[in-house]
Amino acid sequence: MTSATSATSQVTSAEGARERAREDSEAAFSAAFEAAVAADERIEPRDWMPDAYRSSLVRQIAQHAHSEIIGMQPEANWITRAPSLRRKAILMAKVQDEAGHGLYLYGAAETLGTGRDELLDKLHSGRQKYSSIFNYPTLTWADVGAIGWLVDGAAITNQVPLCRCSYGPYARAMVRICKEESFHQRQGYELLLVLSRGTEAQHAMAQDAVDRWWWPSLMMFGPPDDESAHSAQSMAWKIKRHSNDELRQRFVDICVPQAEALGLTLPDPDLRWNEDRGHYDFGEIDWSEFRAVLKGNGPCNEQRITQRRRAHEEGAWVREAAAAYAAKHQHAPRSDRKEAVTS
Ligand SMILES: [Fe+2]
Ligand SMILES: [Fe+2]
Repeated sequence: MTSATSATSQVTSAEGARERAREDSEAAFSAAFEAAVAADERIEPRDWMPDAYRSSLVRQIAQHAHSEIIGMQPEANWITRAPSLRRKAILMAKVQDEAGHGLYLYGAAETLGTGRDELLDKLHSGRQKYSSIFNYPTLTWADVGAIGWLVDGAAITNQVPLCRCSYGPYARAMVRICKEESFHQRQGYELLLVLSRGTEAQHAMAQDAVDRWWWPSLMMFGPPDDESAHSAQSMAWKIKRHSNDELRQRFVDICVPQAEALGLTLPDPDLRWNEDRGHYDFGEIDWSEFRAVLKGNGPCNEQRITQRRRAHEEGAWVREAAAAYAAKHQHAPRSDRKEAVTS
């Protein structure tokens, strides 16, 4: 063997050893990850995680964050027309909560190494989605009630199990979000109850809103299990704890007695208690409508995204001022910081 070939073979074997060591440690990390998930332990930002787990979480958390901030629009539409100071204060608090939810969730996505700018850019350019429910219009004041009762109610049904999600920062964000969603659901229910017990016209307005929001709310749980692209893997990773159909059924079972208490009907002639299943049966969902709205052909898709882009552009000066303030604060001598606090 010449010295040149011997050197080459040494390099090759060193590379091979490094490659084997890398594979061994990858396998050890992967085993530790799987064991943690199996033991219901939380995965934290600095822990090793499979690339697909990370990207799946980023996709889900981003879509969730986008839904929170786009979801501010249909209801903000009614802030200036709320029928009383009390209703206005409640609605403003709710819409502000939704902005806060967006912030917690963008924060959770940042722990996975994806910046807020990048996610907002994907939202604005249509590369990431938000919940289709917000592409429906709010035509009357009763829609504020129907959204609280049904849309926030469906969100809670979806989100309570996410408090036990395997990714720590997402699970912890959900705990706080769910507490606030519960207030949102109650204010909507109470609003509808007052309308339902009011004049004939108010009752009719409440019924009309429920008629329009019921089916889109059922679609919020996503496609049926056998058509849901990400469900099985998300459940194996314990990001998701229950299937779409399971959660949808749970929501229907909760809503039927609530509708009765409200004195309103749900717009589904096939809705009836099934003694054998111990659940309510319900009619076929029009998935062609769901797919059309998802594709961008809902009544308000264009309006929502245009408004979001405009709000982002108009808020540029706030982001610049906040960044300038943060930079100044970071470099300020300690004595300055102390003075600023005590003065
Ligand atoms: Fe929310
Ligand atoms: Fe909410």
